Amino acid sequence: MVQHLFRPLVIPREALTAAIFHCPNVLHLGTGMSTLLSDLYQLDCPTQTAIDFSSVCISTMSALRAFLDLPITWLTMDVCTMTFPANWVDIAIDKGALDAMHNGSLLDLANEFKANMKTYLHQVARVLKPDGGKWLYVRWQQSGLVAELLERSGVWNVDVKVLGEQGDLQYHDS
Ligand SMILES: C[S@@+](CC[C@H](N)C(=O)[O-])C[C@H]1O[C@@H](n2cnc3c(N)ncnc32)[C@H](O)[C@@H]1O
Repeated sequence: MVQHLFRPLVIPREALTAAIFHCPNVLHLGTGMSTLLSDLYQLDCPTQTAIDFSSVCISTMSALRAFLDLPITWLTMDVCTMTFPANWVDIAIDKGALDAMHNGSLLDLANEFKANMKTYLHQVARVLKPDGGKWLYVRWQQSGLVAELLERSGVWNVDVKVLGEQGDLQYHDS
């Protein structure tokens, strides 16, 4: 168990390739200090925008030598109040950002979290291209009640994949 707790949340290469290969326009939501952007660049994703509400993350990452030559737009921005135009992005990816908004029990979600999540999902749906746009949400925990809140009737279909090996603490990609 201790081993699981300290292992980073890494998306298996095959899953990443299947979901994102050759995507013209990717938005990273709550990018943190993730190296996912350079992985995606190698998967032929030429245009990437990375946002986080932490200006420290954004300034640190945008100054990193590994990222300097990549055409990435780094912006300090809250995922709940995004200022991008509507119908703009092909894939928006959240690896751990929504999880970071949550605290407390997965079986008894706080009203504040539910409200923030609703606002966030509304923003994601707004910026995604209506035809073929995808939101990839990668989380460590079992989905619990959060899964129900991901549904947005008439806006998108939810498809859940369990990543990782049997016997692992599973993590989920919706
Ligand atoms: C668990 S970290 C994951 C970082 C990165 N995506 C990764 O996979 O390593 C969560 C990140 O989400 C960011 N975050 C949390 N709430 C946010 C919000 N409302 N708007 C923008 N970023 C947010 C945090 O600042 C943090 O960098």
